[in-house]
Amino acid sequence: MPADPAALRLALADDIASGDPTLDPSWRDAVAAVPRELFVPDAVFRHVDSGWTPVHRTEIGDDDWLTMVYSDSTWVTQVDGQDVADTEGPITGSPTSSATLPSLVARTAQVAELRPGQRVLEVGTGTGYSTALLCHVLGDKNIVSIEYDTGLATAAAAHLHAAGYHPTLAVGDGLRGCGEPADYDAIIATCSVRHIPPHWFWQLNDGGSLTTTVCGWMQVAGLIRLVLDDEGTAHGRFTADKITYMLARPHERPPSPLFFKIDGITSPTRLDPALLEWWEARFVAQLAAPSAELMGTGSGVILRDVATGSQAWTEPKGAGWIAHQHGPLRLWDQVEDALLEWQRAGAADLTEFGMTATPESQTVWIGSPRGPSWQLPV
Ligand SMILES: C[S@@+](CC[C@H](N)C(=O)[O-])C[C@H]1O[C@@H](n2cnc3c(N)ncnc32)[C@H](O)[C@@H]1O
Repeated sequence: MPADPAALRLALADDIASGDPTLDPSWRDAVAAVPRELFVPDAVFRHVDSGWTPVHRTEIGDDDWLTMVYSDSTWVTQVDGQDVADTEGPITGSPTSSATLPSLVARTAQVAELRPGQRVLEVGTGTGYSTALLCHVLGDKNIVSIEYDTGLATAAAAHLHAAGYHPTLAVGDGLRGCGEPADYDAIIATCSVRHIPPHWFWQLNDGGSLTTTVCGWMQVAGLIRLVLDDEGTAHGRFTADKITYMLARPHERPPSPLFFKIDGITSPTRLDPALLEWWEARFVAQLAAPSAELMGTGSGVILRDVATGSQAWTEPKGAGWIAHQHGPLRLWDQVEDALLEWQRAGAADLTEFGMTATPESQTVWIGSPRGPSWQLPV
């Protein structure tokens, strides 16, 4: 018997709801109603070895394709700006767009605490699937969605219209908000940011909310809902979710030059570098060295600062490890000091981190705004 999209859709909605008992039934119902097969293009990229291989619907057949569409998976649709439809063989690079896994879209919407009647700006339309879920729950007239890439935005508009949704769609840099005047009650991003863009504050009503993943070049993120007070300061706490969306294009790391280890100044480390395999530890490291990327883990941590070219790398020595540091920043010291502070704060999990933010100054803290804190690179 051929695969039945309606049955697959219902099964996906039920799976997501049973995996997250706190999920509001409206998001489960939206997943059960929105035909994802109209949003996932007829080819997607699969991660094979260290590259991306296009998988075409015509190669695998309709049934396997529908099963794939209705798995709770992210399907990459664009790599380094190259659409899967224009790709014949494997390519390398970083994903620049995808159809996000439905459970993550639903979870993000749940965290945003959106209410009927609210006017919502979504940043990162992608395939339009998450936009459709928002339309289903809040009504088309309340949803504005903006996508950076013109081709993706055109395709998303066609997907949404085919599914019967007609939100306001725009093409541009959603980090600059969307439209003037813009009186949103909520902004929700399906791309990550290194800091909260100032325009988001200016386009939000008092009491409005911003929901996004705050990420960086060490590739760890925290999901947060910030609420704007009437003095223009946003406050919130991170959720426990260890998830991330791809970085907003203007916040992506610039291309790296070839990396060569330099011996630099050496000293024994106070901590096991393998600590950076923990999500929270890496989150702290990213706060402490916000323009650094992390290129190796385990005992062989490699940190490279994109802004200054400073580097730090570790290696085992005797019963411990040594760090080599070179350049104007002492990257390992910065990271290690922060990790020790985090450990003194009880090795806090993500829910103990919070954020206080204005357009000019954004602080992530542990416990309370008076606790250990770090500035985001605004
Ligand atoms: C993870 S995908 C979004 C997936 C989408 N929500 C879906 O369900 O199909 C992230 C999207 O954000 C877009 N994006 C990145 N930076 C952006 C920006 N500054 N403004 C608007 N869109 C942006 C990317 O082009 C990409 O399509």
